[in-house]
Amino acid sequence: MSQNQQRETFSSRWVFILAAIGSAVGLGNIWRFPYVAYDNGGGAFLIPYLIALLTAGIPLLFLDYALGHRYRGSAPLVYRRIKRWAEPVGWFQVGVSFFITVYYAAIIAWAALYTVKSFNLAWGDDPATYFGESFLKADNSANFSFDFVPAISLTLAIVWIAAVIVLAMGVDAGIGRVSKLFMPLLTVLFLIVVIRSVFLEGAAAGLDAFFTPNWEALKNPTVWISAYGQIFFSLSVCFGIMLTYASYLKPRTNLSGTGLVTAFANSSFEVLAGIGVFAALGFMATQQGVGVDEVATSGIGLAFVAFPAIINQMPMGAIFGVLFFGSLTIAGFTSLFSLFEVVVSAIKDKLNLPRKTTAIGLGVIMAAISLLTFSTTSGLMHLDIVDKFTNNVGIVFIALVAIVVLDWVLRRIDEFSLHLNMVSSFHVGVWWRICVVNITSLVLGFTLFQELLKLFDEPYGGYAPAQVGWFGWGTIAIIVLFSLIMSLVSWPENLPVDGPPGSDFGVDPDHTLTPERPSQYDPSRRRVAGFAIEQYSRKER
Ligand code: ALA
Repeated sequence: MSQNQQRETFSSRWVFILAAIGSAVGLGNIWRFPYVAYDNGGGAFLIPYLIALLTAGIPLLFLDYALGHRYRGSAPLVYRRIKRWAEPVGWFQVGVSFFITVYYAAIIAWAALYTVKSFNLAWGDDPATYFGESFLKADNSANFSFDFVPAISLTLAIVWIAAVIVLAMGVDAGIGRVSKLFMPLLTVLFLIVVIRSVFLEGAAAGLDAFFTPNWEALKNPTVWISAYGQIFFSLSVCFGIMLTYASYLKPRTNLSGTGLVTAFANSSFEVLAGIGVFAALGFMATQQGVGVDEVATSGIGLAFVAFPAIINQMPMGAIFGVLFFGSLTIAGFTSLFSLFEVVVSAIKDKLNLPRKTTAIGLGVIMAAISLLTFSTTSGLMHLDIVDKFTNNVGIVFIALVAIVVLDWVLRRIDEFSLHLNMVSSFHVGVWWRICVVNITSLVLGFTLFQELLKLFDEPYGGYAPAQVGWFGWGTIAIIVLFSLIMSLVSWPENLPVDGPPGSDFGVDPDHTLTPERPSQYDPSRRRVAGFAIEQYSRKER
């Protein structure tokens, strides 16, 4: 029996849904969404955000599910099965996830430390100075510092050990079980935070800023680019996560129904985070007698600087702080192991290694990189640059390449819509194709072009060109090289890797699908969905 036929599975669709929501709801919802919304004019942001969700987020989530579920493998294996030369696309996604994982763990370590620091409001009267100078001991003067910040290094090491343990335990016993425990806990903690926020004095001013649409801002392309970027990051699409998780689903799983639940749960969390954060900003603005748009610094600072400042002024601020940073830690952790799983699953498939060995081996390597790069006094600078390049260049680039390869070159999108419709209650039609192929390609192409122009024009964030060169462009160059080299390594002999026609991977008795609705079984589509028809009809015979 091949390794593929023994692929692990989630024990039920609900466990998968909780794991998928756990992956989607992360730092992106609580840390990133409010500051992106704040930077893009508050109320102006919600409309492009919703449009991005419907035209790109949900359609691409369906595509990731279809890819993983149909080809039952990690990202490189799925692309290898689709077409031999497409394998580097999967490895590029693994590379992006690798770099996001190593810095993402550091932000979780900060959040965990801030949870503890909330008990005695350790940041004092000046949270901004505390965060930069006392907590991170930030120093951007050198490209690379070997001065570790002991508290961050130690906490980061603990975060890594926890992530390795979860993944070593397995898909259902590790990822599934921890998600079942943490997601309800996170929901309760976060609801308390939001409810507390909306009852603060001045909260209404913040909510006004969040919900009042600013039609003028809709003419600004940056607002639209930020909305699409946020949706990609937040829904964990196009960097291998949802594809990998879907490969652990049982053959007959309602994919699109599951996708809708995941997407709407994620966005509800995001909007809830927006309500909580803007209500708290309204409170702070009222205390200081200034406008909501003047009250906080944006970016990383919104969570680690503005929140401590708000907590300082709140009655029972310490409890609020513990709940807020505790939620951030939990939400981040369930996303962290989903990112890490993309890498573990790919290496495990390619080198035919046991799960435990892969999780521990990769955990040691990635933790070492994470500690060396992000827990030293130059860590903040590295994190800022790697975050920018992996998200705004890496994910956007590979999402565009994946669509070009899957549709423009290989013409396989119809095969995936057929697959989705075979197993799902909610059917995708021509609108899905238009969103995935046309709208998304246009938006991604435009976004990438704009972003590259900006990055070529001047070094990102005012950093020295060498710093941006090493940590920004260097990261992208490593991912490209890694993708090409890994694609040259051979696959294990017992793993079927050849795609259609006549491929036998995944065609264990249960996975072969027969058309439940004969009307979809349209012979005129044989040409566009040749493989689908092939595979289904084999069972029919
Ligand atoms: N989707 C994850 C987040 O929002 C990566 O943080």
